[in-house]
Amino acid sequence: MKDKLIIFDTTLRDGEQSPGASMTQDEKIRVARQLEKMRVDIIEAGFPAASRGDFNAVQAIATRITDSTVCGLARANPQDIKQAGDALRPAASARIHTFIATSPIHMQQKLKMSPEKVVECAVAAVKQARDYTDDVEFSPEDAGRSELDFLCRIIEAAIDAGANTINIPDTVGYTLPHQFGELVGQLLARIPNAHKAVFSTHCHNDLGLAVANSLSAVMAGARQVECTINGLGERAGNASLEEIVMAVRTRQDEFPCDSGLDATQIVPASRLVSSITGFPVQPNKAIVGANAFAHEAGIHQDGVIKARETYEIMRAEDVGWVANRIVLGKHSGRNAFTERMKFLGFQFKSDAELNRAFTRFKELADNKHEIFDDDLQALMADTANNSEQSRFSMQRLETTSRSGETSTATVRMEVDGVAKNAHGQGNGAVDATFRAIESVVQSGSLLQLYSVNSITSGTDAQGEVGVRLERAGRIVNGHGADLDIVIASGKAYINALNKLYDTESASHRQRAQAI
Ligand code: KIV
Ligand code: ZN
Repeated sequence: MKDKLIIFDTTLRDGEQSPGASMTQDEKIRVARQLEKMRVDIIEAGFPAASRGDFNAVQAIATRITDSTVCGLARANPQDIKQAGDALRPAASARIHTFIATSPIHMQQKLKMSPEKVVECAVAAVKQARDYTDDVEFSPEDAGRSELDFLCRIIEAAIDAGANTINIPDTVGYTLPHQFGELVGQLLARIPNAHKAVFSTHCHNDLGLAVANSLSAVMAGARQVECTINGLGERAGNASLEEIVMAVRTRQDEFPCDSGLDATQIVPASRLVSSITGFPVQPNKAIVGANAFAHEAGIHQDGVIKARETYEIMRAEDVGWVANRIVLGKHSGRNAFTERMKFLGFQFKSDAELNRAFTRFKELADNKHEIFDDDLQALMADTANNSEQSRFSMQRLETTSRSGETSTATVRMEVDGVAKNAHGQGNGAVDATFRAIESVVQSGSLLQLYSVNSITSGTDAQGEVGVRLERAGRIVNGHGADLDIVIASGKAYINALNKLYDTESASHRQRAQAI
């Protein structure tokens, strides 16, 4: 029997700390449900002390998720531990993850604490966390740049205090694979009570080495890996879940362990996270990129036709790539729609919500004959992003474009329930639309990114637009989907504005940045 490799997903915590990747509570619940369906062992649902919104999201996930352990992050102080313990109270299985920095630079410059004080805080935090749950994880933050002797000392003390998972973070993505493996191996060998805890890795990707470092640690004895869907995370991101899981599974000849993950749920999870956050997946991304299993070169195609193993080390269907099948059409009824949505992980909270989604589906099916799962995902994301309760909404958009001439846009919007009309001119219909909207809202924000992706193939495909706005250091992403990409652009811009003016997520961002 091989060892179990525990998969700890932190998309909803570290992933969400990525600028512009913040998610609403409903979106987090959808991601958590998908992670549970994929059989992720531990879901780090958030950082309850960061804001009321984060607390509520962790609590909501703890209430709904039964098959995975739900984890909350806490700094090593009494208030944070209490908030995490309280938020996790409804969980069927709860873990508190507490951390404190241990590298000389972090202890001196950030914490302004002596090493003795840092050990004292870690021990007190672990003990307090054990009052709430038997499942406590401790992380010496910036372990990759910490002194080995000090790491041994603090980890031994944390295990004695009751921590049963010890996570070794390479917080700034500085280590090299052989060093990181050596570090974990040394810790396991030198700490006398190391056998009482599971050792874990948490690697950031600043040098593009997060997955390699994590795998090196697994080879050295780590049996939990912290990772995120699509490698989402601060700066260059965290180790990518799909790459770790598939590397370990594909190279069972080398690894002494395997995860219990249902890998066929990887591509749906990747798409869900990408559509919610608006962070596109690069086409050549391993496992989940659109080209990951595409063989363009004739010589490869020939080989794959004769024997697929000539060029394929994994099967596309094993990670959830399925040929785009038409699932619904204009004659599909409410039952077929509800069943398909259930299959995709959407549960309607009320008949009114179902009716609204069904009406939007019918509108889409009237204009687009073949509806694929990706269309339904986009439709649901768009319905959630552009709800009538939002502060800003767009009722109507008319644009004109002629070659060689300035484009114009006329927008009818509602701002706090009051109808407003606006006109804009610009270099193309999208520019004119953004200027028209901006003339009403006057956000003064800077457009940092604008992207259009086609959701399925064909010229009648829905366009999915992403817009990133920045104002006073705050970054938000907006999304919109429509058969008409100018309308999708207007929706995405409005969605970003709604997020920019959402004060709760603003305070969350500020707190998150403080750690
Ligand atoms: O990168 C890091 O060190 C973290 C800790 C909170 C584990 O995210
Ligand atoms: Zn991290």
